[in-house]
Amino acid sequence: MRRPFIAGNWKMHKTVPQALELVEELRGLLEGEEGVEIVVAPPFTALYPVAQVLKGSVIKLAAQDCFWEEEGAFTGEISPVMLADVGCAYCIVGHSERRHIFGEGSREVARKARALLTHGISPIVCVGETLEERERGEALKVVGEQMEGSLAGLSGEDMARVIIAYEPVWAIGTGKTATPQQAQEMHAFLRQWAWEKFGGDVASTLTILYGGSVKPGNIQGLMAMEDIDGALVGGASLRASSFAQIVKGGKG
Ligand code: 13P
Repeated sequence: MRRPFIAGNWKMHKTVPQALELVEELRGLLEGEEGVEIVVAPPFTALYPVAQVLKGSVIKLAAQDCFWEEEGAFTGEISPVMLADVGCAYCIVGHSERRHIFGEGSREVARKARALLTHGISPIVCVGETLEERERGEALKVVGEQMEGSLAGLSGEDMARVIIAYEPVWAIGTGKTATPQQAQEMHAFLRQWAWEKFGGDVASTLTILYGGSVKPGNIQGLMAMEDIDGALVGGASLRASSFAQIVKGGKG
Protein backbone atom coordinates (compact mmCIF):
# COMPACT_ATOMS: atom_id res chain seq x y z
CA MET A 1 0.00 0.00 0.00
CA ARG A 2 2.99 2.29 0.57
CA ARG A 3 5.07 2.76 -2.56
CA PRO A 4 8.85 2.38 -2.17
CA PHE A 5 10.56 5.78 -2.21
CA ILE A 6 14.26 6.29 -2.91
CA ALA A 7 15.77 9.78 -2.74
CA GLY A 8 19.33 10.92 -3.39
CA ASN A 9 20.60 13.86 -1.34
CA TRP A 10 23.59 15.21 -3.24
CA LYS A 11 24.43 17.65 -0.40
CA MET A 12 27.13 20.22 -1.43
CA HIS A 13 28.36 18.20 -4.42
CA LYS A 14 28.28 18.66 -8.21
CA THR A 15 28.83 21.67 -10.43
CA VAL A 16 26.23 22.17 -13.17
CA PRO A 17 28.13 20.10 -15.79
CA GLN A 18 28.71 17.32 -13.24
CA ALA A 19 25.05 17.39 -12.17
CA LEU A 20 23.88 17.14 -15.78
CA GLU A 21 26.20 14.23 -16.45
CA LEU A 22 24.88 12.35 -13.41
CA VAL A 23 21.23 12.97 -14.12
CA GLU A 24 21.53 12.05 -17.81
CA GLU A 25 23.15 8.79 -16.77
CA LEU A 26 20.38 8.20 -14.22
CA ARG A 27 17.72 8.73 -16.86
CA GLY A 28 19.41 6.11 -18.99
CA LEU A 29 19.50 3.62 -16.13
CA LEU A 30 16.14 4.29 -14.52
CA GLU A 31 13.71 5.46 -17.19
CA GLY A 32 10.71 3.17 -17.31
CA GLU A 33 11.09 2.03 -13.67
CA GLU A 34 7.65 1.65 -12.17
CA GLY A 35 6.35 1.03 -8.69
CA VAL A 36 8.95 3.23 -7.00
CA GLU A 37 9.18 6.98 -6.41
CA ILE A 38 12.65 8.15 -7.48
CA VAL A 39 13.87 11.57 -6.33
CA VAL A 40 17.11 13.52 -6.67
CA ALA A 41 18.07 16.54 -4.57
CA PRO A 42 20.85 18.51 -6.30
CA PRO A 43 22.31 21.74 -4.84
CA PHE A 44 20.34 24.94 -5.58
CA THR A 45 22.61 26.00 -8.45
CA ALA A 46 21.85 22.82 -10.39
CA LEU A 47 18.07 22.64 -9.81
CA TYR A 48 17.00 24.49 -12.94
CA PRO A 49 19.33 22.77 -15.42
CA VAL A 50 18.59 19.35 -13.87
CA ALA A 51 14.84 20.08 -14.13
CA GLN A 52 15.25 20.59 -17.88
CA VAL A 53 16.84 17.14 -18.27
CA LEU A 54 14.14 15.56 -16.06
CA LYS A 55 11.21 16.87 -18.15
CA GLY A 56 9.02 13.88 -18.99
CA SER A 57 11.10 11.60 -16.74
CA VAL A 58 9.94 9.37 -13.89
CA ILE A 59 12.65 10.95 -11.71
CA LYS A 60 11.36 13.80 -9.52
CA LEU A 61 13.22 16.85 -8.29
CA ALA A 62 13.82 17.92 -4.68
CA ALA A 63 15.64 20.81 -3.02
CA GLN A 64 17.76 20.32 0.10
CA ASP A 65 16.36 23.21 2.17
CA CYS A 66 14.35 26.44 1.88
CA PHE A 67 13.29 29.52 3.82
CA TRP A 68 9.64 29.96 4.84
CA GLU A 69 8.91 33.43 3.46
CA GLU A 70 7.73 33.88 -0.12
CA GLU A 71 10.08 36.76 -0.95
CA GLY A 72 11.78 39.72 0.66
CA ALA A 73 15.00 41.00 2.19
CA PHE A 74 16.43 37.63 3.24
CA THR A 75 19.90 37.60 1.73
CA GLY A 76 21.07 34.16 0.75
CA GLU A 77 17.72 32.43 1.13
CA ILE A 78 15.53 30.56 -1.37
CA SER A 79 11.73 30.49 -1.06
CA PRO A 80 9.20 27.71 -1.69
CA VAL A 81 7.79 29.86 -4.52
CA MET A 82 11.19 29.74 -6.24
CA LEU A 83 11.45 25.99 -5.72
CA ALA A 84 7.98 25.40 -7.16
CA ASP A 85 8.92 27.63 -10.09
CA VAL A 86 11.87 25.40 -11.06
CA GLY A 87 9.78 22.25 -10.72
CA CYS A 88 10.59 20.84 -7.28
CA ALA A 89 8.07 18.27 -6.09
CA TYR A 90 9.85 17.77 -2.76
CA CYS A 91 12.15 19.63 -0.37
CA ILE A 92 14.25 18.17 2.44
CA VAL A 93 13.90 20.08 5.73
CA GLY A 94 15.57 19.62 9.10
CA HIS A 95 18.45 17.50 7.84
CA SER A 96 20.81 16.77 10.73
CA GLU A 97 23.55 18.78 9.00
CA ARG A 98 21.21 21.81 9.08
CA ARG A 99 20.34 21.12 12.71
CA HIS A 100 23.89 20.50 13.92
CA ILE A 101 26.13 22.65 11.69
CA PHE A 102 23.73 25.56 11.18
CA GLY A 103 21.86 25.47 14.47
CA GLU A 104 18.39 24.97 13.04
CA GLY A 105 15.69 23.90 15.46
CA SER A 106 12.42 22.06 15.06
CA ARG A 107 10.43 25.34 15.21
CA GLU A 108 12.16 26.55 12.05
CA VAL A 109 11.71 23.13 10.43
CA ALA A 110 7.95 23.29 11.05
CA ARG A 111 7.69 26.78 9.54
CA LYS A 112 9.51 25.55 6.45
CA ALA A 113 7.32 22.45 6.18
CA ARG A 114 4.13 24.54 6.42
CA ALA A 115 5.38 27.03 3.81
CA LEU A 116 6.31 24.24 1.41
CA LEU A 117 2.88 22.62 1.71
CA THR A 118 1.24 25.97 0.95
CA HIS A 119 3.11 26.01 -2.33
CA GLY A 120 2.39 22.45 -3.33
CA ILE A 121 5.78 21.00 -2.39
CA SER A 122 6.01 17.91 -0.17
CA PRO A 123 8.47 18.32 2.71
CA ILE A 124 10.82 15.45 3.53
CA VAL A 125 11.16 16.06 7.27
CA CYS A 126 14.34 14.61 8.82
CA VAL A 127 14.72 13.45 12.41
CA GLY A 128 17.43 11.48 14.17
CA GLU A 129 19.42 11.15 17.38
CA THR A 130 23.15 11.56 18.00
CA LEU A 131 25.35 8.74 19.27
CA GLU A 132 25.46 10.27 22.79
CA GLU A 133 21.68 10.46 22.88
CA ARG A 134 21.40 6.82 21.79
CA GLU A 135 23.97 5.73 24.37
CA ARG A 136 22.08 7.58 27.10
CA GLY A 137 19.00 5.58 26.09
CA GLU A 138 17.23 8.73 24.89
CA ALA A 139 16.90 8.00 21.16
CA LEU A 140 13.11 7.53 21.16
CA LYS A 141 12.53 10.54 23.41
CA VAL A 142 14.72 12.84 21.31
CA VAL A 143 13.22 11.73 18.01
CA GLY A 144 9.68 11.96 19.43
CA GLU A 145 10.38 15.57 20.45
CA GLN A 146 11.77 16.35 17.01
CA MET A 147 8.58 14.95 15.43
CA GLU A 148 6.38 16.99 17.77
CA GLY A 149 8.27 20.23 17.04
CA SER A 150 8.96 19.73 13.35
CA LEU A 151 5.36 18.84 12.47
CA ALA A 152 3.75 21.51 14.68
CA GLY A 153 0.68 23.09 13.14
CA LEU A 154 0.19 20.41 10.47
CA SER A 155 -3.20 18.79 9.97
CA GLY A 156 -3.92 15.16 9.09
CA GLU A 157 -4.60 16.36 5.55
CA ASP A 158 -1.17 18.03 5.42
CA MET A 159 0.42 14.84 6.74
CA ALA A 160 -0.83 12.92 3.69
CA ARG A 161 1.75 14.95 1.72
CA VAL A 162 4.64 14.74 4.21
CA ILE A 163 7.52 12.26 4.04
CA ILE A 164 9.51 11.43 7.19
CA ALA A 165 13.20 10.50 7.05
CA TYR A 166 14.83 8.86 10.06
CA GLU A 167 18.55 9.52 9.89
CA PRO A 168 20.54 8.55 12.98
CA VAL A 169 23.33 11.13 13.10
CA TRP A 170 25.90 8.45 13.98
CA ALA A 171 25.15 6.59 10.73
CA ILE A 172 25.46 9.55 8.36
CA GLY A 173 28.59 9.47 6.20
CA THR A 174 30.27 7.12 8.67
CA GLY A 175 29.80 3.83 6.84
CA LYS A 176 28.05 2.65 10.03
CA THR A 177 24.48 1.75 9.11
CA ALA A 178 21.84 1.15 11.72
CA THR A 179 20.99 -2.53 11.60
CA PRO A 180 17.64 -3.26 9.95
CA GLN A 181 16.34 -4.13 13.45
CA GLN A 182 17.54 -0.83 14.99
CA ALA A 183 16.00 1.12 12.10
CA GLN A 184 12.76 -0.89 12.28
CA GLU A 185 12.44 -0.21 16.00
CA MET A 186 12.56 3.54 15.37
CA HIS A 187 10.33 3.40 12.30
CA ALA A 188 7.69 1.46 14.22
CA PHE A 189 7.92 4.09 16.98
CA LEU A 190 7.46 6.87 14.40
CA ARG A 191 4.43 5.20 12.86
CA GLN A 192 2.93 4.67 16.31
CA TRP A 193 3.61 8.33 17.10
CA ALA A 194 1.77 9.34 13.90
CA TRP A 195 -1.07 6.99 14.84
CA GLU A 196 -1.56 8.64 18.21
CA LYS A 197 -1.30 12.15 16.83
CA PHE A 198 -3.13 11.90 13.49
CA GLY A 199 -4.94 8.56 13.46
CA GLY A 200 -4.72 5.27 11.61
CA ASP A 201 -5.28 6.53 8.05
CA VAL A 202 -2.33 8.93 8.25
CA ALA A 203 -0.10 6.45 10.08
CA SER A 204 -0.71 3.52 7.77
CA THR A 205 -0.02 5.51 4.60
CA LEU A 206 2.88 7.61 5.97
CA THR A 207 6.13 7.06 4.04
CA ILE A 208 9.08 6.74 6.44
CA LEU A 209 12.55 6.68 4.89
CA TYR A 210 15.76 5.48 6.49
CA GLY A 211 18.98 7.43 5.87
CA GLY A 212 22.58 6.82 6.96
CA SER A 213 25.16 4.93 4.89
CA VAL A 214 22.60 3.25 2.63
CA LYS A 215 24.42 1.30 -0.07
CA PRO A 216 23.51 -1.24 -2.78
CA GLY A 217 24.61 -3.98 -0.35
CA ASN A 218 22.33 -3.06 2.56
CA ILE A 219 19.17 -1.68 0.91
CA GLN A 220 17.38 -4.99 0.63
CA GLY A 221 17.82 -5.90 4.30
CA LEU A 222 16.48 -2.49 5.31
CA MET A 223 13.52 -2.61 2.91
CA ALA A 224 12.54 -6.05 4.18
CA MET A 225 11.46 -4.39 7.43
CA GLU A 226 7.76 -3.76 7.91
CA ASP A 227 7.96 -0.02 8.59
CA ILE A 228 10.86 0.99 6.31
CA ASP A 229 9.39 2.41 3.10
CA GLY A 230 12.49 3.72 1.40
CA ALA A 231 15.82 5.46 1.75
CA LEU A 232 17.39 8.90 1.78
CA VAL A 233 20.80 8.25 0.27
CA GLY A 234 23.82 10.55 0.60
CA GLY A 235 27.23 9.40 -0.64
CA ALA A 236 25.98 6.48 -2.71
CA SER A 237 23.65 8.79 -4.69
CA LEU A 238 26.61 10.64 -6.21
CA ARG A 239 27.31 7.83 -8.69
CA ALA A 240 24.62 6.78 -11.15
CA SER A 241 25.42 3.09 -10.98
CA SER A 242 25.19 2.81 -7.18
CA PHE A 243 22.06 4.98 -6.93
CA ALA A 244 20.36 2.96 -9.70
CA GLN A 245 21.26 -0.27 -7.89
CA ILE A 246 19.74 1.09 -4.68
CA VAL A 247 16.55 2.06 -6.53
CA LYS A 248 16.28 -1.41 -8.05
CA GLY A 249 17.13 -3.11 -4.75
CA GLY A 250 14.60 -0.91 -2.95
CA LYS A 251 11.82 -2.01 -5.26
CA GLY A 252 12.33 -5.55 -4.07
P1 13P B 1 25.17 9.01 3.72
O1 13P B 1 24.33 8.07 2.85
O2 13P B 1 26.34 9.57 2.98
O3 13P B 1 25.49 8.41 5.03
O4 13P B 1 24.22 10.28 4.02
C1 13P B 1 22.96 10.09 4.51
C2 13P B 1 22.23 11.38 4.47
O5 13P B 1 22.52 12.28 5.24
C3 13P B 1 21.17 11.54 3.47
O6 13P B 1 20.44 12.71 3.69
